[in-house]
Amino acid sequence: MELTINGVQHHINADPDTPLLWVLRDDLKMTGTKYGCGLAQCGACTVLINGNAVRSCVTPVGELGAAQITTIEEIEQDDIGKRVVAAWIRHQVPQCGYCQSGQVMAATSLLKQTPHPTDDDIRAVMVNLCRCGTYNAISAAIHDLAGEAAEEGAKQ
Ligand code: FES
Ligand code: FES
Repeated sequence: MELTINGVQHHINADPDTPLLWVLRDDLKMTGTKYGCGLAQCGACTVLINGNAVRSCVTPVGELGAAQITTIEEIEQDDIGKRVVAAWIRHQVPQCGYCQSGQVMAATSLLKQTPHPTDDDIRAVMVNLCRCGTYNAISAAIHDLAGEAAEEGAKQ
């Protein structure tokens, strides 16, 4: 089957039931997307599929068809993803870093759908687990980005 990942078409030899995470990490050596629980609980494996955050550990490759898959390796090619990474650096969000590629993908998806998220919006969407407890820094970085979006809107 063919999968479009980060704008590049890849021929994949995998059973259709194989989780996308396995194909990314084991077949394509894109190891920025992490394995945490394998049970759709932690969010470490989050990627974007057509711009939406999806847990790749429970997403069979056979269901993806022509979907556009984006991983952390190329998230900075996305305008919002690039701003999220910059805000993560400004706010020094990562601690051990293990969960952070998933957090960046979740934040990018949130800001694509809701450019000015409230605290409730952030709490509802940013549910990926972080054992280092970076939740406050994540929230601050997203508020920072929401402010940037508001400033840009005011200039237009
Ligand atoms: S590894 Fe996919 S949600 Fe935990
Ligand atoms: S930064 Fe360590 S688990 Fe989140």
